Amino acid sequence: MSRRRDKAGCARSRLDPTPHARNAGSQRCFSGSSSSTGGEARVANAHPDLMRLTFWEKPQEERDRAFARLRDEPRPAFFPTDDGRGFYALTRHADVVAASRDPGTFSSEPISTSLDDPPESVRRYAGSMISLDAPRHTRLRRIVARSFTPRMADKMSEDIASTARQIVSEVAVLGQGEFDFIEHVATPMTMRVVCRILGIPESRYGDVRAASELILAAGDPDHDDREAFLLSKYVELHELTRELVLKRLHEPADDLITQLCTANVDDECLTQEEVGKFFTLLIVAGTETTRNALAHAIWLLTTRPEQRAYLFSDMENRVSLMSNEVVRYSTPINWMRRNVTREVECFGGAFQPGDRVVMFYNSANRDGAVFDRPDEFIAGRTHNPHVGFGALGPHYCLGVHLAIQQMNTLLKELFTRFPDFHSTAGAVRQRSSFVNGYEILPCSV
Ligand code: HEM
Repeated sequence: MSRRRDKAGCARSRLDPTPHARNAGSQRCFSGSSSSTGGEARVANAHPDLMRLTFWEKPQEERDRAFARLRDEPRPAFFPTDDGRGFYALTRHADVVAASRDPGTFSSEPISTSLDDPPESVRRYAGSMISLDAPRHTRLRRIVARSFTPRMADKMSEDIASTARQIVSEVAVLGQGEFDFIEHVATPMTMRVVCRILGIPESRYGDVRAASELILAAGDPDHDDREAFLLSKYVELHELTRELVLKRLHEPADDLITQLCTANVDDECLTQEEVGKFFTLLIVAGTETTRNALAHAIWLLTTRPEQRAYLFSDMENRVSLMSNEVVRYSTPINWMRRNVTREVECFGGAFQPGDRVVMFYNSANRDGAVFDRPDEFIAGRTHNPHVGFGALGPHYCLGVHLAIQQMNTLLKELFTRFPDFHSTAGAVRQRSSFVNGYEILPCSV
């Protein structure tokens, strides 16, 4: 089938009228991790079920082959689910880009970060901007984007550099033995940076860290009372935000929370509830993602000595390209959901209002129609229009510069002090379809 697109990004080819099987479900999911309830045989699909943990536990090469087959299909494959709704998988770069940039047709409401709709009880806490459309999203983005200005970025870069120095000094104290990169480097780095930006006092870092593990905990299939647990974590973060907002209203400071809760030039500011939701989003979106990107960088540079040598021969000028390539190659967030708002023929398929589509960034980032040698990690890759931070639609990652800056700064600091820094055997990956990351990454200097 031709993959030429019209202006709206929709394929011009004729549609196949064959309806997809829609009712043979096997699985539900919250924030990407599986809690499957049915058997494989009930899935009326030639492809492995992309929302099952058993699929995401397979070796990378096997998953990549499955996505390569899906990209070659004439239309997005349909995957049934227990609730009878199923979802379509967008796996090609062009399709992910087109859907991301057409929010009128591919909406982020009621949620973009989970295949299930959020439970009623957590809805009032969980409705952050990432799961809103215009005009509510536009207003929130306009207000918060003002705080992510070049001036703020300058201030952040000092914070990031001092945090990286502090963490690397702590690594020096750990000595020659093996230690966990996630526990001792990546988590403290990303957590301290986000907390400093938000103005959260150091005494509360522990609470924030515990609550921020909510995405994973929510998806843990072994968790007895997922919804109640999730709710308690949201309440904790919102309570902390409330305390901080009240304090800053009386004692303004040069931090993000003061900017967000006090009126700015256009008399616009966030309500306390909006600040709470935004904080929760920043803590979750800004820590786990960058933490995993850092871990992927260490693993990739350990297992590919030639790419490490290339980076080391001009670290200052090459580190930024390398960090972006880490995000493309590893894709720390595998997917986002969109919700079809109108009858539309697109991408070689036909969609109805209420259909769910899942945009697989990991697959788009391996699309040979866009990337040269897509399955290779090439530290100096120059043409790299990856979608690891989204596809330049209205929800494109707000923290992209912050993430790349943190990666560049920490990796430079670490490798300058410890040129032999490497990961060792025994890495444990996170059990999730949504997040591509590590629980544990043993390493040594
Ligand atoms: C390597 C690290 C990161 C990755 C891979 C990543 C990835 C993403 C992705 C895929 C999206 C959704 C894009 C879309 O739907 O079009 C997103 C949105 C977002 N990210 Fe990031 N992110 C990272 C770091 C950060 C950091 C450090 C922050 C801030 C502290 C941040 C804040 C946000 C916010 C607020 C949104 C929602 C924007 C909106 O809805 O308008 N992210 N990110």
